[in-house]
Amino acid sequence: MNILSLQNADLSNKTVFLRCDINSPINPHDLSILDKSRLIEVSNTIRKLNNCKLVVASHQGRLGNSDYISMNQHAIALSELLDRTVKFVPDIIGPTVITEIQNMDNGDILLLDNLRFLAEENSEMSPEHAVNSHLVKKLSPYFDVCVLDAFSTSHRSHPSIVGFAELMPAYAGTIVEGEVKALQNIVQNPDMKFTAILGGAKIPDRLKSIQKLINAGRIEKTLLGGLIGNTFLAASEQVPLSSTSIDDKNSIKTAKSLLEQYPDKFILAEDVAVEVDRKRTEKKLVDVDASDKIFDIGAMTIQNFSQQIDHAENIFITGPLGMFENQEFRLGTVEILNKLANSNAKTITSGGHLSAVLEQLQLKDKIYHVSTAGGALIRYLTGEELPLLQALNNSATRYNQR
Ligand code: 3PG
Repeated sequence: MNILSLQNADLSNKTVFLRCDINSPINPHDLSILDKSRLIEVSNTIRKLNNCKLVVASHQGRLGNSDYISMNQHAIALSELLDRTVKFVPDIIGPTVITEIQNMDNGDILLLDNLRFLAEENSEMSPEHAVNSHLVKKLSPYFDVCVLDAFSTSHRSHPSIVGFAELMPAYAGTIVEGEVKALQNIVQNPDMKFTAILGGAKIPDRLKSIQKLINAGRIEKTLLGGLIGNTFLAASEQVPLSSTSIDDKNSIKTAKSLLEQYPDKFILAEDVAVEVDRKRTEKKLVDVDASDKIFDIGAMTIQNFSQQIDHAENIFITGPLGMFENQEFRLGTVEILNKLANSNAKTITSGGHLSAVLEQLQLKDKIYHVSTAGGALIRYLTGEELPLLQALNNSATRYNQR
């Protein structure tokens, strides 16, 4: 793939638009940021953009969810990480932002508000349409170049991802460049197959991704935990529906049809951990009651998954296997990550949650590739062309020819 790299670019004195992804897990009770992995990562890109006027933008959460919030605490966190002022502007395309940009000096950094507060940033559109979005029309006259570093949003064809790159040189940020470097060979080798370990919560997205990975011939086996695992347990009717906390009938239907279509591809938990008197209690599936709530995989399942890991050459893991924020229910996630770190398999981990746990366990260095991207990474591994990477490729072709 062809990209304009920051490594040989001098963007001094330019006004730069940096589209990153600092969409972070948010505590639903006090709305604080739970995990700063993505902020830490993007700080490295920002450090490379020193002597310019830097306008940073990202989305946070999804419309209707409790994590769909403003970005002021992201600016505070970035300022702390960089030891430089990152000024938050509670606006995206209004007169306040324009005035702020016009008054910037080299070395200044602005963080715009949550891009998804603009309706158009919640819908997919072609680059040609994105050029005419409010965001790109209003702000592009003030920018000389853009830097695209939102690898974890590279599967979304949103104006901030594909629009600016039509009008100005688009450079790859260090995250995007690192991901492409680490994964390009794998993506371009269609014979490479994975044992996938899927956990986490974004259920409809995960279901689509599994289907895509299987259709792309990439999957040997899929080991399931977390809420996605509960969806499959619900679909297999081995435990009472209420114990899974899954009420999305469509997802259960999709999981059921995947189990019917590909019976050999899925390995479900055979025992689980439920909460009794606020403590972890492990049960075989047949013993789970309607009043139980499943929060983790159990010891037999951990052992079974570990044996699968022993036989795998390549592993892709996304999302925690249980409610890891609660000490009682982090065992499954921790044990499997430990096993992966000490196995011979080439492992790719996906998503901020796993990256944070690996950091806590000091295991990052023992993993082949740790990515904070989730859905985008899965789509990349299927071999799909991602809008952000296409935008970078087109820009490199356009500007290298001049
Ligand atoms: C992610 O966390 O996967 C990215 O930030 C993309 O978010 P989205 O799935 O809401 O588009």
